[in-house]
Amino acid sequence: MNRRKFLKTAGIATGGIVLACGGLGTAATITPPIDLIEKQIKGDPNMKKVLVTYSSKAGSTSEVAAAIAEVLNKNGASVTVAPIKKVDDISNYQAVVVGSLIRMGSWVGEAKKFVETNKAVLEKIPTAYFTTCATLKEDNEKTRAEVAGYVEPVHQILTPVESALFGGKMDTSKLNFFDRKITEMMAKGENPNGDYRNWDEINAWAEKLVPLML
Ligand SMILES: Cc1cc2nc3c(=O)[nH]c(=O)nc-3n(C[C@H](O)[C@H](O)[C@H](O)COP(=O)(O)O)c2cc1C
Repeated sequence: MNRRKFLKTAGIATGGIVLACGGLGTAATITPPIDLIEKQIKGDPNMKKVLVTYSSKAGSTSEVAAAIAEVLNKNGASVTVAPIKKVDDISNYQAVVVGSLIRMGSWVGEAKKFVETNKAVLEKIPTAYFTTCATLKEDNEKTRAEVAGYVEPVHQILTPVESALFGGKMDTSKLNFFDRKITEMMAKGENPNGDYRNWDEINAWAEKLVPLML
């Protein structure tokens, strides 16, 4: 689905949901408990400290961040994995990987804001981006171009050393009522759920980062 069609569908869905929910608006935004990965992996003290930070709604992007961190750590780096909202100060890191899911045709606001806020530091050290999305459940030239368009505004803020586009995972049981309804309506009666992450691709990309970041 292209961006315009997506936004139109989401707009209609949102309107319908808001009307249907009425006074239940607050309940519609209650999110089931999600485990977002947060950890520090010690490496060689003589090597770089790397931050892998991410924005994730339902948790799957956090697992991608952790996989990238493991590869960097196996290559010697000390790596901190944390959701963006838990990161205050990045001055301690010598390289940063920032990831976000695509939500309604763009990176999540907090991830974009993280790059904006920390631009002065990020542009002095190797910074890479990764993106997860449902569009790449079909991976071809057209879908890649579409997702590249979603990420372009973040490239405009800061050009990364690398930027990966990955198929993600849709799990509506982990979404709030509002997001679940949007994704169900977008799926037009088909099952919206599926895991499109390609771990070989994710690990290979992380290996590619090693000479660029460490
Ligand atoms: C409310 C909502 C809107 C989404 N909008 C898009 C979209 O516009 N384009 C897209 O390719 N994927 C979209 N997705 C799919 C997610 O980007 C994908 O499932 C991602 O891997 C979820 O990551 P998470 O498990 O870390 O939240 C959307 C998902 C949700 C829940």
